[in-house]
Amino acid sequence: MDIFEKCRDFDSDRMYETFGSLVYFRSLQLSTHPGEVVINGRSVVMAGSNDYLGLARDPRLAEAAIKAVRLDGTGCSGSRPLCGTRDIHEQLESACAAFLGREAAVLAPSGFQTNLLLAGLLGKDDVVLGDRDNHASLVDAVRLSGAHYHRYRRDDVARAEGLLAEAPDGAGRVIVTDGLFSMEGDLCDLPGLTALAARCQARVVVDSAHDFGLLGSTGRGAPEHFGLENQVDLVTATFSKSLGSAGGVLAGPAEVIDFVRSRARAAVFTAGMAPSVAAAALAALDIIRAEPERRVRALDVAERMHNGLRALGYDTGNSVSPIIPVSVPGQDRCLELWHRLLEAGVYANPIVAPGRPAGREMLRVSFTPLHSDTQLEQVLEAFAAAGRTTGVIPVAPPGSWTPVRVARPLSTAPSIVPPRSVTSPTAPTALR
Ligand SMILES: Cc1ncc(COP(=O)(O)O)c(C=O)c1O
Repeated sequence: MDIFEKCRDFDSDRMYETFGSLVYFRSLQLSTHPGEVVINGRSVVMAGSNDYLGLARDPRLAEAAIKAVRLDGTGCSGSRPLCGTRDIHEQLESACAAFLGREAAVLAPSGFQTNLLLAGLLGKDDVVLGDRDNHASLVDAVRLSGAHYHRYRRDDVARAEGLLAEAPDGAGRVIVTDGLFSMEGDLCDLPGLTALAARCQARVVVDSAHDFGLLGSTGRGAPEHFGLENQVDLVTATFSKSLGSAGGVLAGPAEVIDFVRSRARAAVFTAGMAPSVAAAALAALDIIRAEPERRVRALDVAERMHNGLRALGYDTGNSVSPIIPVSVPGQDRCLELWHRLLEAGVYANPIVAPGRPAGREMLRVSFTPLHSDTQLEQVLEAFAAAGRTTGVIPVAPPGSWTPVRVARPLSTAPSIVPPRSVTSPTAPTALR
């Protein structure tokens, strides 16, 4: 059997075209207007990027990146252990560790690869519990390590406890979860998970890809939001969302980070992050520290848009964040709504099969603090008109609906998170 056979049967046009227009892999150009992109020469409101703080086009990031290119070139031409480490990498690692209140941090060239670093820490006898909606990169990290992986539903931490309790003596026990879920926009049950970890002597790893920079009183993410940083052992985060750059970071106790840096295959056998990318992320961290009002506006905008959509009759699920999952069951209906919104000058992300099971199709909508009130109104008007035409919402708005309160900071942050101890021999063990 030829491994290329499946490629001949794969009809990407059939999958990705609707109403004569390309749904996925569409080229979007930057617009001169914040909050907009240009598609086929037409400027539309971007209601779907992960640029939660509106930093991806900030001139200060661009300037930092350009300076880094001039100083260090466009690429590192080598892996970090050999000739691929630059001062900017070390500065960014120190800044991330300080920002997250952790002893140390190590970079990886993408958020995906950051999570693969965990494979270097896990061994085949370890038992890992993960939320069933965890990001693919967390799942792949566990697969690579050969550790036993069990999934739980985040509304069923009791099942997770049963699975951990069954782990053999001597197995390392780890709970791995997204902090903020990338599609549903809801938070993990960190209080429940950390309490479980304490009972079962398990390590806790939080992937803060979507909450880093955005949630918590200083932007440290979901662990800070819950006031549970000292119950979380490792944090992974990406720079490709709130930080407007690319790459990612794993932060935690110095001994663990040193080990991962020199033993994890995803850290050793890859070139150092491009200096311009690191410099942009470093500039973004400074801005996040200096301009907390961006976070406040991002959350205000999110709350307003959740509630504006709900007032029209849309269901935005359990999200408490700038990720707004607008439920549109039925692939055809979902794509039709998407198409009509685009016609009305609004770009949202259609999430259908294979990314979403039948009946749970949705539009993933998000905004930045840079969207103007006029743009936000335009989006709501487009959703009202397109939703009524397609029958996704009733013609008359609902008499009542439940307002959303977004995840505003619950606590103030400690300055440094002390490493947590768990009783040996249940700490993650095997090395690779
Ligand atoms: C939860 C989560 N973790 C990791 C990643 C990977 O990050 P990156 O796109 O920066 O590689 C993503 C990407 O969307 C994500 O949603």
